[in-house]
Amino acid sequence: MKIIRARDYDHMSRQAANIISAQVILKPDCVLGLATGSSPIGTYKQLIEWYNKGDIDFSRVRTVNLDEYVGLDYSNEQSYIYFMRNNFFDHVNIDLTNTNVPCGTNPDAAAECARYDYIIKELGGIDLQLLGIGPNGHIGFNEPGDSFIKGTHKVALHESTIQANKRFFEREEDVPKFAFTMGIVDIMQAERVVMVASGENKAEAVRNAFFGPVTPRVPGSILQLHKNFTLVADEAALSKI
Ligand code: GLP
Repeated sequence: MKIIRARDYDHMSRQAANIISAQVILKPDCVLGLATGSSPIGTYKQLIEWYNKGDIDFSRVRTVNLDEYVGLDYSNEQSYIYFMRNNFFDHVNIDLTNTNVPCGTNPDAAAECARYDYIIKELGGIDLQLLGIGPNGHIGFNEPGDSFIKGTHKVALHESTIQANKRFFEREEDVPKFAFTMGIVDIMQAERVVMVASGENKAEAVRNAFFGPVTPRVPGSILQLHKNFTLVADEAALSKI
């Protein structure tokens, strides 16, 4: 595990964008695993800036997103498919048919999870997975529990996650209670994993995940066992280690 210490959110975002940009330059048809949330927004902004300067070409890049709320589709501004288009896809030359997000409105959860794992397999796995971390240590929407869940699954969101994510919704009752998420094996099989973490409210999660035991109680802790994991975190997120 490597830790890149950044000064602040902007510095963290540029460092992470540099790693992603190197990946795309080295392998123009790479498979990027992408994340949502406030943590990677700056990374996407930086990548868009470099794209506009003509420095990165996304035309052959394929993507798989980590997760999606159950019940939301593109017409809902809080869906992750909307987030990805709004914050990244619509601003670069990525081919939308090469992008994948779990379908939150598929009523057949088992079929959706199987479909998504099949997509990841067909793509030949993930070259670089970008991650954030939830305050309770979740990655994607792999919530703390008794065991690690391997593949894509439907998950009941923890109360703490609903509380953490309600800031994006008008009313707390609008926050979906369930989500589809890639599983731990999907993430662990990525060739390279890069996590961005910023701010004091992530300091405890960072300490528990990377300076404590590997346990499903802190899902992000599994990354200690990944062969090529880089944490890009700012001073505030690293303040408890
Ligand atoms: C959500 C997402 C995660 C993300 C986490 C933290 O729960 N499913 O992928 O890492 O939020 O979000 P933020 O970066 O906004 O703190």
